Amino acid sequence: MAAEDPFHHLHDEDYARPYLKNLAGAGSLYPRGGRPVEPLDGEWRLTLDLFDEGLRQKWFALDETPPSQWAVPRDYEIEAGETVPVPSCWNLLKPEWTYFEGAAWYTRSFDWAPGPPGERVMLALGAANYLALAFLNGMPVGGHQGGSTPFTLDVTAAIRPGRNRLQIMVENRRSPFRVPMQHIDWFNYGGLYREVALMRLPALAIRQARAALTGDGRMILARIEMDQPFDGTGAFRVPALGIDLPVPIRQGSGEVQVAFTGTPWSPENPVCYPVEFVAGADRFTDRIGFRTLATRGTDILLNGRPVWLRGACVHEDDRDFGKVSTPEDLRRRFRHLKALGANFARLSHYPHHEDAARLADEEGILLWAEVPVYWAIAFDNPATLSDAENQLGELIARDINRASIILWGVGNENADTDARLHFMARLAAVARAADPTRLVGAACLINREDFTIEDRLAAHLDVIGLNEYFGWYEPDFSGLEQLLANSSPDKPVIISETGADALPGYRAAGRVLFSEDWQAEFYRQQWARIVATPYVAGIAAWLLYDFRTERRQTGFQRGWNRKGLIAEDKETRKLAFHVLAGLYRGRDEPS
Ligand code: GCU
Repeated sequence: MAAEDPFHHLHDEDYARPYLKNLAGAGSLYPRGGRPVEPLDGEWRLTLDLFDEGLRQKWFALDETPPSQWAVPRDYEIEAGETVPVPSCWNLLKPEWTYFEGAAWYTRSFDWAPGPPGERVMLALGAANYLALAFLNGMPVGGHQGGSTPFTLDVTAAIRPGRNRLQIMVENRRSPFRVPMQHIDWFNYGGLYREVALMRLPALAIRQARAALTGDGRMILARIEMDQPFDGTGAFRVPALGIDLPVPIRQGSGEVQVAFTGTPWSPENPVCYPVEFVAGADRFTDRIGFRTLATRGTDILLNGRPVWLRGACVHEDDRDFGKVSTPEDLRRRFRHLKALGANFARLSHYPHHEDAARLADEEGILLWAEVPVYWAIAFDNPATLSDAENQLGELIARDINRASIILWGVGNENADTDARLHFMARLAAVARAADPTRLVGAACLINREDFTIEDRLAAHLDVIGLNEYFGWYEPDFSGLEQLLANSSPDKPVIISETGADALPGYRAAGRVLFSEDWQAEFYRQQWARIVATPYVAGIAAWLLYDFRTERRQTGFQRGWNRKGLIAEDKETRKLAFHVLAGLYRGRDEPS
């Protein structure tokens, strides 16, 4: 066989295709389910790869011969990569990497001790932005696209006893065909910004385990789905409620109903119960709050009673850590939401770290979770729809047991076209099929012709999100009054965004843009009109913290969106924070 031309890669622009087949997705995801993992966080080597040389030259196939013994030169050497922490965003690790958008190769080695015969090994990632391709001991072991959702890769065939070498290529280029597309109002961080671990599974494993109340709140419906056809008997246990039931499993799935005798979960009393699902040799555990959720007319009902949502939107953004959500960052986020008097948060504009919803369960904060179908998505592109559907499926599969999540958001501020309607109606259907227990919503645009809260997509939604900035992007509040008076929606409306920029410390009387005083007055004016509108079921202020965004370049902003109620230091509370906290608590704080 002719020796391979060492330079053929210079002329092959189809170099990525072999690695983009069969990317991991919702159908291959194993939520962790309390199973033990072997963390791979910590020090990795990182080599930037702006031109995709790694795939062109197959860097993963190179051995680790030291340069002194190379017969011919190479363009890659693992030990030459920079040492970086994982999780992290490369943008914040070196000044010259701040705006890097391309591919980068993470590499580390690890030792492995094999388990019992039949054991399978999964490489589990919390997320990687945007495309990730993994190689273990020189073998491609799969990949994933979508920048904010978890995925698991079966590495059983490639892992070996003793030392293993793992390489993960991550590529964060923006693209008109991705979800989100290339034009966004947040920072395009890149890297392995969530946890990486190995998870052992028995030969027969639980793919999905869920438990939730039936609509009348009387029964718990528990369901186990195995990852292959299996006939047998599993178990569903809630020790605190004295529940220990067999679950008949046929053809790989089974469910059981049992009377609910516990305390319903609510923001006022966020009771969560340790739960255990067992099937075969696998055991899936979780902490679950049991509550019912519905709409009635324009009300949202939690445990059968109307709930009015007082909240704020949050980005996954940190001045020092970028898109990494540390436990401290998450705890602080909920401390601030509680201090604001909030019972609600919108996790904008993409799936956040899974611990955000876990903490919300414990803290009693209701959540809107969403996928980044943001602005001008390529709605007519089938591959883009598949990507969006997959991200939504992965979000739901991961967070299906989170009592705090009341709504799956399928998009944000998307112009009303036929292609957009088809795309987002499809996503709404995917959400309902995957999870009939939660509401489906979207942040819609208004009908500018007759100036009403009207959007063809609303027919596919349970809740209409309204992003409105009267008093900021429109000079006064009369438009808000007119819009609210003109509209008569037959389902709940949530003000899914409203806000104004303020540079911390910039004080001025009257409507002085970017002053703290105007941001505070903005909320007073908004609040008076919103709470006077019966069909509005809540508000999510835009937003809790200032955040990085390349789009914002006035002297007040310098690369930050300053609509935060708190500055990017996540300490400095602006005047508007105190005013809104007062409004949420039924009184106006002193200005
Ligand atoms: C839009 C958009 C946000 C954006 C905000 C703003 O509504 O949904 O992502 O950051 O407005 O203009 O600050």
